[in-house]
Amino acid sequence: MISFKNALAALLTVLVTVDAKPKCKTFADNVVCSAGKSDYKLVKGLVSDNNRTTGITLRACRISGIDFESFNDLSSLTYLDLSQNKIQQLKLGVIDEPKELTHLNLSYNQLVDFPLGFFDQLTKLEVLDLEGNKLNNLELGILDTLTKLNHVDLSSNAIVGKDFSPYVFDQSPHIKFLDFSRNNMEDSPDNLLHAFESLETLNLDRCFLTEVPVFATKPNLRTMKQLILSTNQISALDNAAIFVNLDSLELLDLTANVIENINDNVFSSLITLLKVDLKNNKIKTIPDSLFRNMPKLITIDLYGNQIEEVPVNAFRGSPLKNLNLSNNKITYLPDNFCLELRNSGGKIKKFLMDPNPWQCACLNDLLKELKKFGIEYNSGKYDGSRPVCVTTNEFNCKRQKSFNEMYIDMFNEVKTAHFRNARAA
Ligand SMILES: *[C@@H]1O[C@H](CO)[C@@H](O)[C@H](O)[C@H]1NC(C)=O
Ligand SMILES: *[C@@H]1O[C@H](CO)[C@@H](O)[C@H](O)[C@H]1NC(C)=O
Ligand SMILES: *[C@@H]1O[C@H](CO)[C@@H](O)[C@H](O)[C@H]1NC(C)=O
Repeated sequence: MISFKNALAALLTVLVTVDAKPKCKTFADNVVCSAGKSDYKLVKGLVSDNNRTTGITLRACRISGIDFESFNDLSSLTYLDLSQNKIQQLKLGVIDEPKELTHLNLSYNQLVDFPLGFFDQLTKLEVLDLEGNKLNNLELGILDTLTKLNHVDLSSNAIVGKDFSPYVFDQSPHIKFLDFSRNNMEDSPDNLLHAFESLETLNLDRCFLTEVPVFATKPNLRTMKQLILSTNQISALDNAAIFVNLDSLELLDLTANVIENINDNVFSSLITLLKVDLKNNKIKTIPDSLFRNMPKLITIDLYGNQIEEVPVNAFRGSPLKNLNLSNNKITYLPDNFCLELRNSGGKIKKFLMDPNPWQCACLNDLLKELKKFGIEYNSGKYDGSRPVCVTTNEFNCKRQKSFNEMYIDMFNEVKTAHFRNARAA
């Protein structure tokens, strides 16, 4: 005989289990679930055993683990999203059944590693998202059956590049997108990416790099279109040959490094480059041929550097449309700067150049040119709400470096006084 107490306990267990269970709905063979009221271990029956299901979304469903057979009999499944759960471990075989799977999203869980062989049955996998876990490595052999992979996201893990085997990707040479951002990729082996034949995007944002890594610029990466090296500690681009292999590069992002020294010819081989992002670095001088004759270059962002001199020669022969020189130390530009740009191939349409410690006479010359050629600039700021330029009694533009320091000091004083007054008011 079942006692009342036992019956009540059994009932409560059922209620709790039912409450924890995600609620799933099916639209056109896609199953989309939302979280229950507590953590839940996925078992056979919730999404399994439906050979018409093509997609399963179990995003943010408080899943803490996955039992065997949870994905049984899903022979049409191509898309599985298990992101934003609490999975710490996956046993060998739990995702073996859906053999047609092309897209697996395990991002934002707490995975530390995978048992060797974990992905072996998923030979059709193309997209593997592992962002935001706690992986410190990928074991050699773990991807060996995944010959169709084209998108791999390993960002925001605990990967240590110097311990990462370059042979992990040997059987997946067709990866086009690879994200290592927010891992420690310092001192990674030079042949880290040797297996790739068609890489297009490589993201190395926040990877503790102190120089442009050799592994990211090897000859087999000549298919690369986007190279992201932002938010590192790269201090120089002094090796003229560093980018010579990157024939197809369209975007080079070096934002937020500490670059000061740049070799004149470092970009000269990048004949397909559309955009170079150098904002928030420590560049003082633009070498005279830095951006010259780059047939596709339309956007240069130099916002937030220490630039005083802007040689017009540096831009000749490039079809430049957007130039950002805001937040530097510029007090003047060469005479007829915009005209010169236009006469030497530039198609300048948008020119951001405020704030800078402009000499008022020089700013005046520039504004006349910008208006004459219909070039967009940051005009909204010229409303008297803060200082935009400084002048002595003599209102003419002094285009000599020797005057810069004086104007920069004047500007800083005016600015300080302005903000002091603004605070006092
Ligand atoms: C799908 O499942 C049904 C019944 O569960 C079965 O009759 C059918 O053969 C299965 N089809 C495939 C392609 O596995
Ligand atoms: C994986 O899921 C996250 C959200 O949980 C999403 O932002 C990301 O785009 C997905 N990844 C892919 C490759 O679709
Ligand atoms: C610099 O200017 C370009 C357009 O010329 C713009 O797209 C970009 O966002 C600007 N950068 C910053 C940091 O404001």
